[in-house]
Amino acid sequence: MNVHATTHDELRAEMGDKFDTTAMATETTLLQPRFYTTDFDEMDRIDVSPVREEWDTLIAQMKSDPNKGHFKKNADWDKIDWEGMEPGLKREFIDFLVSSCTAEFSGCVLYKEMKRRGKNPDICELFSYMSRDEARHAGFINDALREAGVAVNLGFLTKAKKYTYFRPKFIYYATYLSEKIGYARYITIYRHLEANPDKRFHPIFKWFREWCNDEFSHGEAFALLMRTDPKLTESFVNKLWIRFFLTAVFATMYVRDHARPEFHKALGVDIDWYDQEVFRKTSEISKQVFPMELDLDHPAWLPTLKRIESAFRKMEEAEKAGGLGGRLSKLAATAQAGLGFARLYLIPVKKSTPPASVRLEPAY
Ligand SMILES: [Fe+2]
Ligand SMILES: [Fe+2]
Repeated sequence: MNVHATTHDELRAEMGDKFDTTAMATETTLLQPRFYTTDFDEMDRIDVSPVREEWDTLIAQMKSDPNKGHFKKNADWDKIDWEGMEPGLKREFIDFLVSSCTAEFSGCVLYKEMKRRGKNPDICELFSYMSRDEARHAGFINDALREAGVAVNLGFLTKAKKYTYFRPKFIYYATYLSEKIGYARYITIYRHLEANPDKRFHPIFKWFREWCNDEFSHGEAFALLMRTDPKLTESFVNKLWIRFFLTAVFATMYVRDHARPEFHKALGVDIDWYDQEVFRKTSEISKQVFPMELDLDHPAWLPTLKRIESAFRKMEEAEKAGGLGGRLSKLAATAQAGLGFARLYLIPVKKSTPPASVRLEPAY
């Protein structure tokens, strides 16, 4: 950081060069949040009558819009000295905000498209409320980035970002999990900072409690959608897919979080503790609909996650190094990550029986 950059505009210009957040958000790698597209017609054919009662209750709650006025800056929004922030922390925090904003906006884009294409009134109503919420979430994070002079150009992102096609059932598994893990991440940080307010280095964390309730409801909606068709969670093949998505979503989160040591240090959070905590909450919640949970206490669980994480770090270093040596190292590291993932996938799961009534309330 150039110490002579004194005015806000100078700082903005300088940081704009350093953090091309729109490019960061547009990039497609294994670890970045993706944009999804699916077979919208198939999703539009879902009949929610098997879960009608629970469905109507959830929709009424979403319609009442409890967080309507929540995502606005008020007197609790303390001024942040971006210029004085330690550069390593600033880089990782901006990366965290961009990645969160992209994930929120990814939900917004998918849900809005479903609402736009659908004809089924139940489905259209649900997706309009969910896209409303995600637009607020993404917009609120982007406001925080704007203060640092590095807002993501969301309009550009919609056009430029690559979309990944997932069959509807994969959308259910992946999106259900990302909503519930989003809830668990936000509430765990919120509770930690409630107990350690001196570690709250940015005001956005104060908004996380009401925020995570939105994510919780979104997850509930996907749980109900899955309940409309028992095959989705009961067939042999689909159980393998659920196991795959649980493993992939958890492993991705582990690698991503470990790439931000300064950010977690500033929060006073041990990353291994935080991740295990989030996995535990997500596992416990997802038993509402998944007939299994991963064995988070298996002796191979954490060591294998660590191996995968170190393989990802090696992949990145090899890419930076370039040349033939770099390419070979990258290949070796990729194989190491792949083997690690296979090992994680093969850890025996704990079977469970989802309860008759799927609905849950946020309890953490
Ligand atoms: Fe969200
Ligand atoms: Fe959400």
